[in-house]
Amino acid sequence: MEDYSQTSQDSQEHIRAAMKARTIALPDGTELPALGQGTWYMGEDKREAEREADALRLGLDLGMSVIDTAEMYGDGGAEKVVGQAIAGRRDDVFLVSKALPGHAGRKAIVKACENSLRRLGTDYLDLYLLHWRGSVPLGETAEALEELKRSGKIRRWGVSNLDTGDMEELLETPDGAGCEINQVLYHLGSRGIEYDLLPWQRERRMPTMAYCPIAQGGALRRELMNHPSVRETAERHSASPAQVLLAWAIREGDVLAIPKASSREHVTENAAAAALKLDEDDLKKLDAAFPAPNRKVPLDIV
Ligand SMILES: NC(=O)c1ccc[n+]([C@@H]2O[C@H](COP(=O)([O-])OP(=O)(O)OC[C@H]3O[C@@H](n4cnc5c(N)ncnc54)[C@H](OP(=O)(O)O)[C@@H]3O)[C@@H](O)[C@H]2O)c1
Repeated sequence: MEDYSQTSQDSQEHIRAAMKARTIALPDGTELPALGQGTWYMGEDKREAEREADALRLGLDLGMSVIDTAEMYGDGGAEKVVGQAIAGRRDDVFLVSKALPGHAGRKAIVKACENSLRRLGTDYLDLYLLHWRGSVPLGETAEALEELKRSGKIRRWGVSNLDTGDMEELLETPDGAGCEINQVLYHLGSRGIEYDLLPWQRERRMPTMAYCPIAQGGALRRELMNHPSVRETAERHSASPAQVLLAWAIREGDVLAIPKASSREHVTENAAAAALKLDEDDLKKLDAAFPAPNRKVPLDIV
């Protein structure tokens, strides 16, 4: 496996080229790199803010232009870190933020969006998501999001943590068809969406944003990273286990994975996963160890 603590100009160029070749398309035709950057837990400790912003900037340099954040993260702190990272280079970024369900009402979502924009130091979001479903009717939120689009504060909107039934309900509302993406938990150890949500979205050409693509921290990630099938696949490609998990998540060309990394090494390693293509043998081995479900399972959420 490569040492990502020192990356030469040449290898940066190689990563950028690989990233350009791994894209997904939004319903409106916009192409995005299949690997973006998460920000959960950023902005919680002010002393870490510059290091986190630096990691995000490096990710942008390497072509991971999608930055995913939320008003919830660090109680606005993550959006401030993102604002710091993207200052002076707004055009390099496809900026995504999310509204809390408690702010999903007609008036509240406008205020929440304006607050996010202020923390981010910008006047528009490329994509605004409903973070998860709460008590506000989906139709009301969809209508308000369309209004935000018309006002120019957001370019597109989508949802997060909505399972198939919720998606069907959303699409039946008058403005529901405006939904461009659903962001859900997806990694090798949690494949529930492959049973019906992912096929449902694929039928409608609605891409998926995969959150927790490397299973966050903790025991599950250790289990995945240390599993012989993952380790052998990594060794076979001179890659790291994290890169195998990322390459696996984006293998079909319509899933955008948003790993969060706060060190330059992790960012570089994650971006370099754009160059890793798993072949049929790899996928068979990983399927055998972590099979896709053969029945409906409730949507995994963190
Ligand atoms: N919509 C939702 O409800 C929802 C829920 C959860 C997450 N999200 C979004 O999805 C993003 C990703 O999910 P996540 O942050 O929960 O989990 P994740 O990306 O699966 O994992 C993040 C963890 O992995 C570590 N890491 C990153 N790159 C690594 C590498 N190459 N090797 C080893 N460890 C590595 C990070 O450490 P370092 O920070 O030290 O680099 C961090 O501890 C979030 O940040 C957020 O933007 C959305």
